[in-house]
This record gives sequence, C-alpha cells and structure tokens, in this order.
Amino acid sequence: MSVNVSQKTLTAADIRLRKGGEPLVCLTAYTTPIAKLVDAHCDVALVGDSVGMVLHGLPSTLSVTLDMMILHGKAVVRGLSHALCVVDLPFGTYEESPEQAFRNAARILAETGAAAVKLEGGVHMATTIDFLVRRGVPVMGHIGLTPQSVNTLGGYKVQGRDADAERVLADARAVSEAGVFAVVLEKIPQSLANLITSTVACPTIGIGAGPNCDGQILVVDDMLGLFADFRPKFVKRYANLAAQAEKAVSAYAEEVRNRQFPSQEHSFGERV
Ligand code: KIV
Repeated sequence: MSVNVSQKTLTAADIRLRKGGEPLVCLTAYTTPIAKLVDAHCDVALVGDSVGMVLHGLPSTLSVTLDMMILHGKAVVRGLSHALCVVDLPFGTYEESPEQAFRNAARILAETGAAAVKLEGGVHMATTIDFLVRRGVPVMGHIGLTPQSVNTLGGYKVQGRDADAERVLADARAVSEAGVFAVVLEKIPQSLANLITSTVACPTIGIGAGPNCDGQILVVDDMLGLFADFRPKFVKRYANLAAQAEKAVSAYAEEVRNRQFPSQEHSFGERV
C-alpha cells in the first residue's frame, strides 16, 4: 500500500493548527482493514455513528449504542498509526448533562484508545463542549444537518437556507468559542459554509458544504460505492465496489453449483 502522509500520529492540536492550510482529508472507518486504508491517506478517521445505518442496517443513527461505538472504535484504533481517531458520542449519551457527556466520553477514550470524540449540536451544546475540553477531552463539533435530530428537523434536509443562516452561524460561533478543535458542517449552502469558515477560529470540515471548507469528510462506504441503499447529492463515488462484489459472489455461486470450484488448485492431495 502506498503511503502518502507522514507517519507521526496526529493529535487534535495538530488538526486545529491546520486552519486555513492544506485541506484536511477525513473519512469514516468502522473496521480495522478500512482503518488501515484510510490511515495511509487521511488526517482523520471518524468512527461515525453512521455505522448503525451502514454496517448494521438500522433505519437511522438513533439506536446506535455506546457499546457499539466502543467496539468499532477499538477495531479502528488497531488499524491506525498516523490519522487522528475521533469517535462519535451516540444519541442519548451526552445531551442530558455535561457530567453524563464526560462519563461517556471518558469511557470512549479509555476503552478504545481514540484521542477525541465528536458530538452534534450548536449553541445548546456549548456548555458541554467547554466542560469536556477543560477536563481533557478533545471535541469535534457537528452542526448544520445533525442526523441525531432527524425527528425535530423533520428529515435530512439542507439547513441554514435564507433566514435560517443566522441560527447555523450562531451554532458555529458557539462551538468554536467553546473549544472544539474542528467542526463538521453538514448539508448547508456553500455561501454559508464560506462565511462560517472565514468567521470561526477552528477548522471547518465539510460534508455537503461546498469546496471552501478547511477540510472534507465522506462516509467511506458511500465513496467506495459499498453502501448502495441511497446516495446523497454530496457523495461522489470513487469506486463501485458493491457492483464488483455482487459479480464476484455470483461467479462463486455459479462455480459451486456446477462443481467448477474448488478445482485441484484449491484442493489437497495425500502426503506421499
Ligand atoms: O456519523 C458520521 O459518519 C458522521 C459524518 C457523516 C460526519 O457524522
């Protein structure tokens, strides 16, 4: 595998220093083999709660548990030697109080070896972010479309259009001032992402937020064409692995049925 990045393990502080510099390259990862692939090319590997929909077939991220995040977090950390590992705090594990958030973030860091957590929410999560950061937990923010709030947002819609832009800008300011080392901007107009990027002190990482953020993130299974259930407009497919896998499984099934597989090449003889 070619290695396109230096081998030093990146910290949240390193990521923060990249504001306005070379774009931050980020992808999700949920397993060790994919983490190894991501590690060779990316700055951040996010163990996103999208794992629930992508790997576990759940209809939304709402029923993802802390134990699931810890299991996948451990697997990803085993595959990394360069990229910063960030693990999502799942729905219901941090919103109640800063203390609840700290307890669960501390479990994630202690049990997975990851070096940062991500949580969703703007102005209303600022106190919690400040509480975590002051106690040694690096936090990545996530504003705009926050999938854990799908039921109050009324669907996975673009956020911050027209009069709503002020609200999203206030969220960006609040989480940046509370101490996040970077903030994900999901599914907002490009012009608003540009304004946020030029306003806040921390790097912005876009997903459906146009080309001018300080970095970009995609769900790895989306960009590899492995998750074919649906494709948001902001996803570019760099491969179509689901179609290739389907071809391979179909060829295997046919060869087993007509006894072409296993051939002598894949069989063992007697020892002479
Ligand atoms: O859960 C996730 O994968 C995410 C990214 C889409 C940013 O939050």
